[in-house]
Amino acid sequence: KFIGDLTGLHVLEEQIKEILQVDRVVVVPGDSDDNTWVQKEMGKACIASLKKLVGKQNTIAVTGGTTMAAVAESMTSLNKESEFLFVPARGGIGEKAENQASRIVEEMAKKVGGEYRQLYVPDPISDTTYETIINEPSIMEVIQRIKGADIVIHGVGDALKMAERRRTPDDVITLLKEKNAASEAFGYYFDQTGNVVHKVKTVGIQLEDLDNVDNVITVAGGRSKGVAIASYFKRGRGDLLVTDQGAAEQILRGS
Ligand code: F6P
Repeated sequence: KFIGDLTGLHVLEEQIKEILQVDRVVVVPGDSDDNTWVQKEMGKACIASLKKLVGKQNTIAVTGGTTMAAVAESMTSLNKESEFLFVPARGGIGEKAENQASRIVEEMAKKVGGEYRQLYVPDPISDTTYETIINEPSIMEVIQRIKGADIVIHGVGDALKMAERRRTPDDVITLLKEKNAASEAFGYYFDQTGNVVHKVKTVGIQLEDLDNVDNVITVAGGRSKGVAIASYFKRGRGDLLVTDQGAAEQILRGS
């Protein structure tokens, strides 16, 4: 069942802004848990908002996942006068090839007529490899670009679903359950009050780096992600949330 009119969605957007304390919220009709086209609608809404944010030179960091893949699919030419560099926000976090940030940045850059960089590092990464790898000049260059991003576009997932998707070791899954992990974003797992209960070690964007970014766009929908979205916004930064009606109504019910 959809709220047929736009007024209903606008009311929902205002309510979500208030509950999550986010500056801007866009709610598209439908529930991406039920229909995959809703994810594409979120993708289109994300691109429409992104167009208004671009400057002359833009470094855009993106994460992986099916939602980000839908954003890439909806990508169109943004502004012919501007320059664009797309970078993966972190090393590939155990996603299927088509949903990896490295593939997504390539698709986005090609559609926009911009450049892209890849980040070939294991994720998760061991402490010893980490120390060696971050001193590699080619890796260092990409990391600097990532940390200097003007815009970050990222997904949010349900903590346990994401842990399973990444074939996380059993002891970590047990810990996530014990600590009531609710959401995951950027390799960080948060509980319902926004505490970081676990973090996957990798290179790329760390939570504190988001403070230096002009715009953080969060794209996540589906009623099954309502709790995860609310949990992420307790702690993580997001200036614009693009979501769907299913998730928005779930967030309202949960508050
Ligand atoms: O693995 C990258 C990532 O952006 C995660 O941080 C996030 O939890 C997940 O993908 C979201 O995936 P999806 O859009 O498929 O739900």
